[in-house]
Amino acid sequence: MKENGVKTHYNLSVGRSRDIWKFAYYTTCMWVIFVLVLAILSGFVLGGLVGAPWVPTRSHDLAEIFAALDLQPDQTFYDLGCGDGRAVVTAAQAHAKAIGIEINPVMWLIATLRTLRYSNAKIRLGNLWQYPVRDADAVLVFQMPRVMEQIEAKLAGELKPGTKVVSYAFPMPQRQALHRAKSWSLYQY
Ligand SMILES: C[S@@+](CC[C@H](N)C(=O)[O-])C[C@H]1O[C@@H](n2cnc3c(N)ncnc32)[C@H](O)[C@@H]1O
Repeated sequence: MKENGVKTHYNLSVGRSRDIWKFAYYTTCMWVIFVLVLAILSGFVLGGLVGAPWVPTRSHDLAEIFAALDLQPDQTFYDLGCGDGRAVVTAAQAHAKAIGIEINPVMWLIATLRTLRYSNAKIRLGNLWQYPVRDADAVLVFQMPRVMEQIEAKLAGELKPGTKVVSYAFPMPQRQALHRAKSWSLYQY
């Protein structure tokens, strides 16, 4: 009888400690998932706040843009806010030195994986405002109108004469375009 009582007590406490571990395990999993989702979302929110949220350049526009940029193999191309890296891939395929700068860690990772096989392509995780582009021969910008004036000033202060810039969707507020297409404008500095 006493033995049974001990057994029951033992079973109850083992069951209770298993429940506590289960609870701790599921709570930790929930927190890890919550923090991950928050980190992913905050990358997208940050991109939208400091520039533009991720919206890709359409592929037929990309083909037109690169025809207009006429990149040569030894030239340097920058995509300021490179998203999934599609423009960087196109520049790398033209054998240019292709550099993408991206603030959103998720998009940076996607662009990095996408460009892994191109030794002439690099994706930098960071803020385009802190990244000088003095060595650029061609630049692609696809940011919101509210930052275009600042971008215009940054490029005017850094680019060497002759550098080509394509502004997708939203034109530069002050600079005269060399060519205007439906969705993008070409400038020469
Ligand atoms: C409209 S998307 C353009 C994507 C890409 N250039 C394309 O043509 O497909 C803008 C991208 O810029 C990134 N971005 C926004 N502000 C930025 C900043 N200050 N520095 C670096 N990247 C930024 C966003 O995370 C987003 O991926």
